[in-house]
Amino acid sequence: MANPTVIVILIAITATAAAAAAPPATQYTNHTVGGPTGWFFNATTNSSFANYSSWAASQTFNLGDYLIFNTSTNQTVIETYNETTYRGCTPDDDAFEYGGGSNAFGEAQTIAVPLTLEGPAYYFSGAGDGEQCQQGMAFAIQVNKGLGLPPILNQPPPPPYSEPPSASTQWPPVTVAGDQTPGNGGMRSGANMREELFGLLALLLLLRL
Ligand SMILES: *[C@@H]1O[C@H](CO)[C@@H](O)[C@H](O)[C@H]1NC(C)=O
Ligand SMILES: *[C@@H]1O[C@H](CO)[C@@H](O)[C@H](O)[C@H]1NC(C)=O
Ligand SMILES: *[C@@H]1O[C@H](CO)[C@@H](O)[C@H](O)[C@H]1NC(C)=O
Ligand SMILES: *[C@@H]1O[C@H](CO)[C@@H](O)[C@H](O)[C@H]1NC(C)=O
Ligand SMILES: *[C@@H]1O[C@H](CO)[C@@H](O)[C@H](O)[C@H]1NC(C)=O
Ligand SMILES: *[C@@H]1O[C@H](CO)[C@@H](O)[C@H](O)[C@H]1NC(C)=O
Ligand SMILES: *[C@@H]1O[C@H](CO)[C@@H](O)[C@H](O)[C@H]1NC(C)=O
Repeated sequence: MANPTVIVILIAITATAAAAAAPPATQYTNHTVGGPTGWFFNATTNSSFANYSSWAASQTFNLGDYLIFNTSTNQTVIETYNETTYRGCTPDDDAFEYGGGSNAFGEAQTIAVPLTLEGPAYYFSGAGDGEQCQQGMAFAIQVNKGLGLPPILNQPPPPPYSEPPSASTQWPPVTVAGDQTPGNGGMRSGANMREELFGLLALLLLLRL
């Protein structure tokens, strides 16, 4: 008689614990923004193809996940952590623009945005001087810790700010390449040796005087 009761209680406890805790992340997820609809704005109807806030509310975002913007060059993707910038639909200094580089209209493009910071993050289209953003091309997300950043994304500073560091990290290889040029290296070490000899002679002369 006791055994079935114990089992029922155990099942109840297990079920309660499972319901209370958010489903733990077991893998990194790529979220296609807007689902099959993608990230598009219809200039004729002056409206977004989907309600992106609703879409975002249907997803659970974790560190290391990607937002995949299936879109065209008619829309842009701007990321900010500043809610004021997001509400104002204005790409400010503290916002990062993904994609770009094409002035053609309607060219298909896929933009992958890694989620590298825990907490709120905001996305909007900067096309049409903020008009697209005002008409629904904007959404906010909450990034949970999940499994934490995978090593490939866990390099300070995070990828969204990679522009200045990538410029500076290119310096050492450039310098090394220059030094390794045989002609330069030979001439330089020759010149260095001559300078050193001259310095030594000058020193000896000074000491004797
Ligand atoms: C998610 O997207 C990123 C960036 O495009 C890609 O490197 C990765 O392989 C994708 N992961 C999955 C599970 O599709
Ligand atoms: C991306 O968008 C195109 C055109 O809207 C669609 O045909 C394609 O299935 C979409 N891809 C994904 C992965 O949703
Ligand atoms: C935009 O909306 C209009 C009117 O509903 C429709 O005719 C047109 O095909 C839409 N444009 C795109 C690119 O879906
Ligand atoms: C689209 O909506 C915005 C904001 O309401 C408005 O300023 C703009 O004139 C509209 N554009 C068109 C083409 O209807
Ligand atoms: C989008 O959906 C949200 C609820 O998720 C709703 O509050 C909002 O009014 C919707 N926006 C539009 C433009 O329909
Ligand atoms: C967010 O942006 C607004 C407007 O540009 C600015 O005044 C404010 O200082 C920013 N907030 C933070 C926390 O950077
Ligand atoms: C992209 O924008 C151009 C210029 O405004 C317009 O002619 C074209 O129909 C747009 N394409 C889509 C798919 O919305």
